[in-house]
Amino acid sequence: MGSSLAVPRGKISLFKKKQKPFTGEKLKVGIIGCGWIATSHIDCYLKMNDVEVVAVADLIDGKAQQFADRYHLNCRVYKSHTEMLANEKLDVVSVCTYNRTHAVCSIDAMKAGANVICEKPMCVTLEEGIEMVRTAKETGKKLSIGFQPRMSDNFKKIKQIVQSGELGKVYYVQTGGGRPFGIPTPYGTSFIEEDTAGIGAVGDIGCYSLDLVLFALGYPKPLTVSGYMSDYFGKNPDTYPKHPEYAEKFGVDDFAAGFIRLEGGICLDFRIAWAMNLPTSGDTIFMGTEKSLRVPSTECWNGSLPKPLKEHKVTHSGLVVTKRLGHASGSGDVFFAKIRSFVDAVRNDTPVCASGEQILYNQAIIDGIVRSAKLGKEVAVEIPEI
Ligand SMILES: NC(=O)c1ccc[n+]([C@@H]2O[C@H](COP(=O)([O-])OP(=O)(O)OC[C@H]3O[C@@H](n4cnc5c(N)ncnc54)[C@H](O)[C@@H]3O)[C@@H](O)[C@H]2O)c1
Repeated sequence: MGSSLAVPRGKISLFKKKQKPFTGEKLKVGIIGCGWIATSHIDCYLKMNDVEVVAVADLIDGKAQQFADRYHLNCRVYKSHTEMLANEKLDVVSVCTYNRTHAVCSIDAMKAGANVICEKPMCVTLEEGIEMVRTAKETGKKLSIGFQPRMSDNFKKIKQIVQSGELGKVYYVQTGGGRPFGIPTPYGTSFIEEDTAGIGAVGDIGCYSLDLVLFALGYPKPLTVSGYMSDYFGKNPDTYPKHPEYAEKFGVDDFAAGFIRLEGGICLDFRIAWAMNLPTSGDTIFMGTEKSLRVPSTECWNGSLPKPLKEHKVTHSGLVVTKRLGHASGSGDVFFAKIRSFVDAVRNDTPVCASGEQILYNQAIIDGIVRSAKLGKEVAVEIPEI
């Protein structure tokens, strides 16, 4: 029987030993964008004794100051990322802005000498992603994209199964999913307007599903993409009973699908929805010549698995199904692990998790879906040597 003092996974124990005081030089951190996800970044930094948040910036009048006050930060506040970067010498910058300014803020921060952890999706277009990776290379600064599910044991286990070779040759992968009601407008319209978001479900949650499978496969290069996008729910005023005017503002996709040819003779079948008349658009499947692996439909963003993984093998006597248990509720505080791992990489000069170079392939697929959907035909993906 569980004790009433049991500490749930991921929660901090009351009896945890106090951190030793840090005597070295603290890393100076700046946060660009003081909205929803910035609260997760600051929560993490405030738990670390070897960093100090010295500056925060937001374009909206008073927002950075409110953020600093809310977290009792003894830091400088700025009205834009350019003003902050011109006045500060930062070791680490968290880019927590809406998608449209991920690239410019990351590039400017690296040029100003900071290492950057940029929120997902990497950016909006492939060209922006290429420029981000090029800047990281030219400046020698680290660039990581904020994919916290990477920190979960479930993601690591799926990769381990795929990479172990027990599935044989993996030739077809299906991924995606999404939600029946989940167009994100809890704090306004920055996720749904063209000017701020640039891309909808395909970037917001599609990037997680793509990362789940591409990470497991070892990030093979995308070669061609045939894409489709729609906005039937986003454009319908009935979707927002309290804010029917949001329908007019909706300028991105609420559903996207793609058929992607990957290097190594693998085809990837992908679909993602912020809203649909289905509870989910399906499980993730790796089809292999020896076995197939089924990953139950998951929200993906926190690495949780609601049901066990299943391996399927056809034999002469029938279909053998083996269950492989995952963690229903993810594995600990993946958000903290994401930021900690980045800070450690900067401190120790080691490779970052979810590097810009790797996530460029994820962005190339998203960009391919957008281009192909507009053109109404398959497009080639061209990623230059950087
Ligand atoms: N990793 C996750 O689980 C997770 C969760 C939520 C959001 N996100 C991502 O984080 C990003 C931000 O989401 P959000 O919900 O915090 O958005 P938000 O709209 O609440 O906040 C973004 C803020 O950035 C500010 N901003 C934009 N450009 C700026 C600039 N050049 N200089 C200074 N400030 C600038 C805006 O004024 C705004 O206040 C999105 O790209 C989203 O996909 C990730």
